[in-house]
Amino acid sequence: MVVRTSADVSRHVPRLREIRPLLRLQMPRVSRRSRLERAATIEDLRTLARKRIPRAVFDYVDGAAESEVSAARALESFARVEFLPRVLRGLETPDLSTSLLGSASSLPVILAPTGFTRMMHHEGELAAAAAAAEAGIPYVLSTLGTMPPERIAVPASGRWFQVYLWKDRATTRALVDRAAESGFRALVLTVDTPVAGARLRDARNGFSIPPALTARTLLDLARHPAWWWNVLTTEPLTFASLTSTEGEPAAMVNRIFNPGARLEDLQWLRRIWDGPLVVKGVLSAQEASRVVSAGADAVIVSNHGGRQLDRAATPLEALGEVVQAVGSQAEVYMDGGVRSGADVAAAVGLGARACLIGRSYLFGLMAGGRPGVRRALDIFRTELSRTMSLAGAGRLDELAEGIVRLRR
Ligand SMILES: Cc1cc2nc3c(=O)[nH]c(=O)nc-3n(C[C@H](O)[C@H](O)[C@H](O)COP(=O)(O)O)c2cc1C
Repeated sequence: MVVRTSADVSRHVPRLREIRPLLRLQMPRVSRRSRLERAATIEDLRTLARKRIPRAVFDYVDGAAESEVSAARALESFARVEFLPRVLRGLETPDLSTSLLGSASSLPVILAPTGFTRMMHHEGELAAAAAAAEAGIPYVLSTLGTMPPERIAVPASGRWFQVYLWKDRATTRALVDRAAESGFRALVLTVDTPVAGARLRDARNGFSIPPALTARTLLDLARHPAWWWNVLTTEPLTFASLTSTEGEPAAMVNRIFNPGARLEDLQWLRRIWDGPLVVKGVLSAQEASRVVSAGADAVIVSNHGGRQLDRAATPLEALGEVVQAVGSQAEVYMDGGVRSGADVAAAVGLGARACLIGRSYLFGLMAGGRPGVRRALDIFRTELSRTMSLAGAGRLDELAEGIVRLRR
């Protein structure tokens, strides 16, 4: 039946043979893998992680210090990025590869050091390191890691170890020696943790390590049985590189780390470590120049993901002055708020050689272990490649040729 609705358009009752090609009816797929595959962004992985993981653990990852202003500003700074695309440049598939500390990396992305990783997923650091190795990018094992350095299976060139300056040099030295013996190639010294930041979500949630079986957590057990089953049936959650470290994380950090650390301690580390030395946690030209003059081969412009000094400067905004001050003598990386391949393109366009990602890969890990981290890295790769194509950059260094600017 044909109905005339206006002079030019007529309607008819839909016919089955017209509808059939449009139908995409499938049995709903519920496997863990398929939900991961359907995650199109890091935010999708975050949503999945939030469902699968107890609230206190999710908050430990997602949260930041005090009012969480630094963490929010880091995300907001990426929203202010503006691309100025180049057109008609005859580009084919963009080349995403780079070299970091003299070794090839398939992406300008590094998995950041994160403590307590087996709490997010029972395979913890092993899963993350394996996904980094598969992707051909470096992995930084935290001093507060929950897997021994000897078990981290990343090719030596991508095996980096993160340390703090402890109150006694002997402990720092023992960690550095163990890293060297386990084949770690680069050392990352974190300098923004003289005391613990105030992670208020953790305090409110009564978060402890290992997670305590209180009345509240027992209730949670019913809602996240798989997570609890994995915690209770795999190796106990301990710090693999440390001893005597149970309890509330902030108190532990304050027992161990050294507010009295000085530039001479960095110079001492430079003397005892032969490989590349990276300093993590500078936010100004002045501090970057000091640590580079004391022997750092690379610096990471970082405020620890907003987890230490709240309202510390925003890394993406501080990047330019650091690159200008030390970019000709040292590699400059940044982290904080990097949640997409487009964010990586922006940071590289503003002078970073690479970005570290923390929460972005942990969301993947919490959502689904090693395949979850793999998914996160696939998302980064796809987005970076697409952004470069759309922006008219065939190579990473071309992004810095005026393609990226930051709106005020
Ligand atoms: C759960 C968690 C644990 C972390 N543990 C460490 C650590 O042990 N050592 C360190 O230097 N940085 C640590 N960081 C900071 C990260 O290395 C990185 O600087 C930060 O996550 C970057 O911000 P993003 O999470 O927005 O990517 C941690 C971050 C998170 C989220």
